[in-house]
Amino acid sequence: MTTKRAAIILAAGKSTRMKSSRSKVLHPVGGRPMIDWVTALARGAGVEKIVCVVGEGNADVRAAAESSGLDIAIQEPQQGTGHAVQCAKDALAGFEGHVVVLYADTPLISGPTLSRVFEAFETHAMAVLGFEAEDPAAYGRLVTSDSDLHAIVEAKECTADQLKLTLCNSGVVAASAADLFSACDRVTNDNKKGEYYLTDIVEILRGDGKSATVVHASEAEVLGVNDRSDLSNAEKAFQTVMREAAMAAGVSLKHPETVFFSYDTVLENDVTVDANVVFGPGVTVRRGATIHAFSHLEGTDVGEGANIGPYARLRPGTKLAENTKVGNFVETKKAVVGKGSKINHLSYVGDAELGENVNVGAGTITCNYDGYNKHKTTIKDGAFVGSNSSLVAPVTIGEGAFLGSGGVVTKDVPDDALALARAGQVNKDGWGARFRAVQEKLKAKKP
Ligand code: UD1
Ligand code: CA
Repeated sequence: MTTKRAAIILAAGKSTRMKSSRSKVLHPVGGRPMIDWVTALARGAGVEKIVCVVGEGNADVRAAAESSGLDIAIQEPQQGTGHAVQCAKDALAGFEGHVVVLYADTPLISGPTLSRVFEAFETHAMAVLGFEAEDPAAYGRLVTSDSDLHAIVEAKECTADQLKLTLCNSGVVAASAADLFSACDRVTNDNKKGEYYLTDIVEILRGDGKSATVVHASEAEVLGVNDRSDLSNAEKAFQTVMREAAMAAGVSLKHPETVFFSYDTVLENDVTVDANVVFGPGVTVRRGATIHAFSHLEGTDVGEGANIGPYARLRPGTKLAENTKVGNFVETKKAVVGKGSKINHLSYVGDAELGENVNVGAGTITCNYDGYNKHKTTIKDGAFVGSNSSLVAPVTIGEGAFLGSGGVVTKDVPDDALALARAGQVNKDGWGARFRAVQEKLKAKKP
């Protein structure tokens, strides 16, 4: 029988350095709030319970955590990480198994890394995720010999020799629930900061005859976010991971450093992405599709072999079937487009359903909004929409119908009909010559 798992997510900090009206851990990395990254990480490790520790001032975090189904523990006032973990004790009463402590402001730890933390229980009673810091600065130092961890010493408490250690504490700590809470009960605040350091539990548990070890991670993965500069570094690190993963999965990124992903972006193999493309949340691009430069996609499904952009804006609810084309300066929203259909130039297509092999001419606009409600435009298979058409929804264009260009279409068009919805053209023979003659005469008379 495998041992049960639980997680405690620490999120009671005041996050003053973000200078934000929103709590720090709700700021997004890769389009997903940091706390949701950490929740997903814990869930991925198969935890059966997650307790999120918040302060009274973190009402927004509490609401977000509750809506993700986390249990809440309140820490007020905040007296350190050891105290924070202790505050989760009641919420985990009766839980027997392994508990990992995660920070809500450390969003980029990977699933395999956390798995290695849990695997450490095969040989040790306790595990700490450590990393080699380029600049160890204020991080807690890990005092080790071979695979054994002897102590974590906070920078402020370090001797001059300990300060030279570069192996640092990421903050992720795991132990059995029994060991974790029994050790936290014994942590004191007799130190430089007057705080209850969670890190003291290593020495306390070793004093009980238990062993501890270090699991290694890269510095980029354990990057913690304190201010906006850290947030941008986390974003950068995330984008690097996504670009490498996309290319490894068979996607061509012509200028990878200019392509931006969200946490859930899915690009199938043989997709080609040109320069300066942004994938907002909820995008899937199927095999063989091409996304040309300067396109922005969000909440969109792009079908096999489709051709998008340059300069296309695909908004949520766009679903493009295989071999569709959406060209330059086209915006779509809640638009379902059938196989082989084309919207090539300068159009807005919203709240619309297009069949197969529809051709939408340049400058076509679906007039979907009347100031109060949104209405639907339906364009059936094989219809041809002339350039500069305004389709005033709700309206249906029948199968194989033609719309003359420049029409304001307010009525449904039957299958195979030609609809002309514009003023008829009048040609006045010789008008130009007569006009010029009159004007020349008037000009000659002027003094
Ligand atoms: C902590 C570690 C340090 C480690 C570093 C990694 C301790 C004593 N030190 O230091 O060894 O190298 O993280 O970033 O654990 N929090 C609460 N309640 C509190 C205090 C903190 O919930 O009372 C939360 C914060 O919101 C944050 C996390 O715990 O998410 C870490 O707290 P922070 O004060 O930033 O710890 P550090 O001093 O950076
Ligand atoms: Ca910190």
